[in-house]
Amino acid sequence: MDAGTIPTLFASLQIPNNHTAVGLSNLLSSNAQTKALFHHKRLPNVGWTDVQIQRLLFELSVLDTNCEETVKCQQASSSSSTSFSHRWTGAGEREGRIYSPLVSQRHYGLGHGIGRSGDVMEAQPKAVGSSALLRLTLRLTLDAVRRGAGLDGTVGKGDNQPSGPAAFGTLLPVCTGMTMALVLSGLRDRAQRLDNTSESVNSKCDDDVVERNIVLWSRIDQKSCYKAILTAGLLCIVLPTKAQPDTDEVSTDLDALKSALDEHGNRILAVLTTTSCFCPRVPDEVDLVAKIIQTWNTGNAKDGGVGISHVINHAYGLQCQLTNKLLNRACIIGRVDAIICSTDKNFLVPVGGALIMSPNPNVIDTISQNYPGRASASPIVDLFITLLSMGLDGYKRILEERHQLLNDFRRKLEEVAITFDERILNCPRNTISFGITLDNLVVASDISMINNDSNQIRQAEQSKQITKFGSMLFTRCISGTRIVPRNENKNISSHNFIGYGSSHDTYPHAYMTAACAVGMSEGEMNEFFVRLTKCWKDYRTKMKKESMKRIQQHDMADSSM
Ligand SMILES: Cc1ncc(COP(=O)(O)O)c(C=O)c1O
Repeated sequence: MDAGTIPTLFASLQIPNNHTAVGLSNLLSSNAQTKALFHHKRLPNVGWTDVQIQRLLFELSVLDTNCEETVKCQQASSSSSTSFSHRWTGAGEREGRIYSPLVSQRHYGLGHGIGRSGDVMEAQPKAVGSSALLRLTLRLTLDAVRRGAGLDGTVGKGDNQPSGPAAFGTLLPVCTGMTMALVLSGLRDRAQRLDNTSESVNSKCDDDVVERNIVLWSRIDQKSCYKAILTAGLLCIVLPTKAQPDTDEVSTDLDALKSALDEHGNRILAVLTTTSCFCPRVPDEVDLVAKIIQTWNTGNAKDGGVGISHVINHAYGLQCQLTNKLLNRACIIGRVDAIICSTDKNFLVPVGGALIMSPNPNVIDTISQNYPGRASASPIVDLFITLLSMGLDGYKRILEERHQLLNDFRRKLEEVAITFDERILNCPRNTISFGITLDNLVVASDISMINNDSNQIRQAEQSKQITKFGSMLFTRCISGTRIVPRNENKNISSHNFIGYGSSHDTYPHAYMTAACAVGMSEGEMNEFFVRLTKCWKDYRTKMKKESMKRIQQHDMADSSM
């Protein structure tokens, strides 16, 4: 309602002016909050109330065309008459029509999606409210990662261009893996464009143009990353990882990267690194990788060509200050083209969205323009609501709460390890995922092991039993832990990953991982350790019983011979 006309309108209802003035002050305050949000385009320090957030969402929704009523309601009201008493009549194939009132409610009536077929960030003429929502959400998200998570992205010196990993960004309504595929295919288009232009300047011969279709991927045993490269129609070269001699860490093999750069040269589109991973894999040394790529490009890339790009999978890494600092450094000392973050794992919204950041606005434009078709606004609305609900203080608080839990988490895991004759994996550079060995979980005296001379069969039996432990955790309502037996192999799209799970061919331990991730509460953590300990005891008891039974069966079989 227009605040200016309220006193007159309410007076006409004989409402006392002093009553109206009190109510009006609420409205003015709410309006001022909204105005400040659009003006500063930054997260409010204190999160908004649900009423305030919904009010803004409905106001934005009203600005879209065809938002008046759901199809179901329209049909019901027009069944007895031939007139159509709505402001808009849609004569296209897609006019923001929503059949169910329930669905409409779930989306605050926003039915047009975001972007246009040529660009996911482009304003949509039929949906100015949705367009504003998208752009505002992007600004709020970048503000959160800059002022909350500590990524650089503010205005740089001299030229007034923002610089750093969070200088520019875009939001896509698909998950991390799919976003990676879209980023890579966008980068391929960009490379073709820039390399071709450079070739036509440097030589007149089209045969010189080499297609960049290779991605060097620093191995991390997460299927979506690998599949994303293949989905983009690119060739993946898996770079091995290095097991560190002084710790239990598995990390970037920089020598393997350098060799691959020399071997495949300008056929390489990008190097794909990862900064959030399951223990014992630690974040890639993205600063050093960025530097190596930049140096290689300086010595080898064609003048004016795009050079080899660097894409960083920062899936859930925003919660780790150490890694964010690494990203800041990478952008200063070397080449970084795109950083991909999941919205669900970082901002606690339902699965379905990703943030892409870059120090280079042209990369962001290319990716936004490469998105085929219009996009769902749903993940954007979720993020918008969540960020406003958290405010900057709330976002910082959940980051800080996780940080506070870290020491306790590590200590309690260590206690469990000692109780069951295991040890915690020493991976100091991974501050999100922690590991504990399972080398003694399967008792070597088990008859099924003894009886099998074949190492392979014995190992398969061990893996089976270790996996059983994982199933037991899950049936006791512990989710998210990973159990990794030794020497597992997995074939994904015809690449054979040896030692699958550990991101290394010959990792010397079976182990289990657990994450101290953003959103976990102290109570949840404590309960996790109680259940883990109980489950481990139950497992041992169960195994002992099964082993005894097998020994008895074995003895009986022997005596009957
Ligand atoms: C490092 C990493 N990359 C990518 C993904 C895939 O994410 P999404 O399911 O959002 O595509 C995950 C999932 O956990 C992950 O851990």
